Amino acid sequence: MAPGMDFTHRHILDMHQFAREDIDHILNTADSFKEISSRPIKKVPTLRGHTIINLFFEPSTRTRLSFEVAAKRMSADTFNISASTSSATKGETLIDTARNISAMHPDIIVLRHSSSGAPHLLSRHVNAAVINAGDGAHEHPSQGLLDLMTVKEHRGSLAGLKIAIIGDITHSRVARSNIEGFTTMGSEVFVYGPSTLIPHGIDNLGATVCTSLEQAVRDADVVMTLRIQRERQNDPLLPSLREYARYFGITSEVLSLARPDALIMHPGPVNRGVELTPDVADGARSVILDQVTNGVAVRMALLYLVMGNA
Ligand code: CP
Repeated sequence: MAPGMDFTHRHILDMHQFAREDIDHILNTADSFKEISSRPIKKVPTLRGHTIINLFFEPSTRTRLSFEVAAKRMSADTFNISASTSSATKGETLIDTARNISAMHPDIIVLRHSSSGAPHLLSRHVNAAVINAGDGAHEHPSQGLLDLMTVKEHRGSLAGLKIAIIGDITHSRVARSNIEGFTTMGSEVFVYGPSTLIPHGIDNLGATVCTSLEQAVRDADVVMTLRIQRERQNDPLLPSLREYARYFGITSEVLSLARPDALIMHPGPVNRGVELTPDVADGARSVILDQVTNGVAVRMALLYLVMGNA
């Protein structure tokens, strides 16, 4: 397949930009790349000679590492910059940082930033393709895509599935990307969490807001739990994590309401004993580490597809 065939997107900024055909194309491409990671020599020359800069202004384990692993498996040259080691600490603006990086002619900039819309802004000021690796509470499209890939792998199809997303919806870019992605693919999304953490208007994205944990989880095909993001809460929006675990945490008893083959997901990092109990996190239905494995394949696909449009 020629790089970028049938793929018209220069930047990857949010899930909203994708039609069902785009998502199918990305997931099929990711699927074809996945086996590279299980070869004895995990490297192909596909992106040799291309330069990818990972610009991370927020902490990350999975996303940053998997973009780097994905790029290296495709033989690209990768460079990592974090806020704490960049001249942002000396007052340089994001745009100035980006223009200076752009002057070194990278092909792709992967950006994580605490401000919603930062990747969109960047894409208007640099020549490189920009991939959003999570912007504030807005979107995390590569996470949404790896979640779709993981469910599709286990279920064969995404149409008609019941997806329950439980937790801090207000601050979750993962929730927004997943609501967009799953509804585009024909799944039904139900959200539930403390009323202080359910944003007004989330139903406009196509999600049904539930009034009980039972309503959300009963007969679900997928139970996706989200991290409580205390760092994004200016005022405490929960009495305590203990109370959250008691009323919103997924235990094996709660999970028994879902379909017998329901998948348990979490984008990470997990607060064990808060969003879900350790037996559920590590149980037979958990696909949390499959999500991480698929993250590399999805990011290989995204790098490859945007390079085809450079
Ligand atoms: N899922 C996710 O974005 O994890 P990191 O913050 O570790 O990248």
